[in-house]
Amino acid sequence: MEKGKMLVFVVLTLLFCSLCDSSRLMKNVESQNRRNLLANGLGLTPPMGWNSWNHYHENINETIIRKAANVLVSSGLSELGYIYVNIDDGWGEMTRDIDGNLVPDKKHFPSGIKALADYVHKKGLKLGIYADAGYYTCAKRMPGSLGYEEQDAKTFASWGVDYLKYDNCNNGGIKPLQRYPIMTRALMKAGRPIYFSLCEWGDMHPALWGFPVGNSWRTSDDIDDNWERMVSRIDRNDVYADFAKPGGWNDPDMLEVGNGKMKKHEYVVHFSLWAISKAPLLIGCDLGKMDDDTLEILSNAEVIAVNQDPLGVQAKRVWAGPLSEYRVAVLLLNKFSDRRSEITAEWEDIGLDPSTVVQARDLWEHETLERQFVGKMTVTVEPHSCKMYVLKPIA
Ligand code: GLA
Repeated sequence: MEKGKMLVFVVLTLLFCSLCDSSRLMKNVESQNRRNLLANGLGLTPPMGWNSWNHYHENINETIIRKAANVLVSSGLSELGYIYVNIDDGWGEMTRDIDGNLVPDKKHFPSGIKALADYVHKKGLKLGIYADAGYYTCAKRMPGSLGYEEQDAKTFASWGVDYLKYDNCNNGGIKPLQRYPIMTRALMKAGRPIYFSLCEWGDMHPALWGFPVGNSWRTSDDIDDNWERMVSRIDRNDVYADFAKPGGWNDPDMLEVGNGKMKKHEYVVHFSLWAISKAPLLIGCDLGKMDDDTLEILSNAEVIAVNQDPLGVQAKRVWAGPLSEYRVAVLLLNKFSDRRSEITAEWEDIGLDPSTVVQARDLWEHETLERQFVGKMTVTVEPHSCKMYVLKPIA
C-alpha cells in the first residue's frame, strides 16, 4: 500500500517535472546540492516557538511580541522547547529608507526590531522575522526582498534575527528556484546562523528541492482554525514524508491550538498529528489568553518528545513512525464526527515484526498500559479524537 502510494507520487512528480521544464529544475537542484547551499547547522529537530500570524494577522505591534516572549517563559513553555518568537507579516513600513533598507513600522514597532531581539535574547529566546520572495509581502503592507536579498539578510543579521520565514507572494511569476536559493546564499553570507523557513505553499513541490535551500518548507497553502482544513493540511504533508530529515522538515503550517474554533479533543488530534509528523511546532494563539486546556495540550512533554526525537523520521499514515531505541510512535485517529470507531494498528503496517511484543505508553493519559500487545493493537476512539502511544519492544 505504502509502496504503491509512493510509486503514484513518483510518477506524478516526474510527469509534473516534465511539464515544467524538468531539465532546468533538476540541474538547479543538483548544482545546489553540490554547493551545499544551506549549512547553518540548525533545525536538527523541528523548530518550536510562537508566531503572530494565526491569531493577529498583520495587526501586530511590539507590545504583542514582548508579551508573547514573557508568557513563553512564565508559562514554562520555553523550558519545553518553545524558544522562537516569530514576527509575521506587518512589521515594516511600506517604503524602504533612502539607502534601500527595510524600516520597522514607526507607529507599531517604535523601538525597532533590534530592541525586540535584545529583549527576547535576554530571556533565553530567539527572534524570528518575516519577509517575502517577491515585490510585496502577502498582506501588501511592506516591500518584499526580491532584488534586495543580500541587503535584507545583512539587516536581519545586524538586528540579531535568528529565524526567517520567507513567503511567496507578488513574485512576478518568477519560479521559486530562481528566488529562494538567492536568499539562502545571502543568509549564509550574513554572518549569523538564521533558521530559514521556506513558505512557498508547496507550489513547486519544495520537498523535492528544499533540503539544501531551507531548514523547512511549507507543503500546502494556509491552515485555518477548523477540522477539515487542519486534517487536509496534514494529509497533503504526508505525501512528502520520505523527504523530511534532521535539518530539513516538511511544514504543514502553524498550530491553531487555542484559537477557539475547534473542540479540545480536536486540538489534541491537531497537536498529536503535527508532533508525530515532525512538523514545526509554532503556537499560533494569543498566549496571554491561553486557557488551561490549551496549556495542557501544548505542554504535553511526552508528545513533544516524539516530535523532537533525534531519529527525525516523519510518521506516515497509518500514523506511525520509528523513534530512537527501536521504539515506534503510533497515533490512532477517528476521522468520523458522529461515531466511535475501533481502530487497529497492525504491526506489519507500522514497521514492527508481527512477533514483536510491546509495552504501550499512552501519551495523553500519561500511563503505561498493563496489557502487552503482539501483532496488533485495537482501541476504541471517540469521534474526531485520537489515541497516541509509544510502543516499546520488550521481546
Ligand atoms: C501567507 C502565508 C501565511 C502568512 C501570510 C502573511 O498567506 O502562507 O502563513 O505568513 O502570508 O501575509
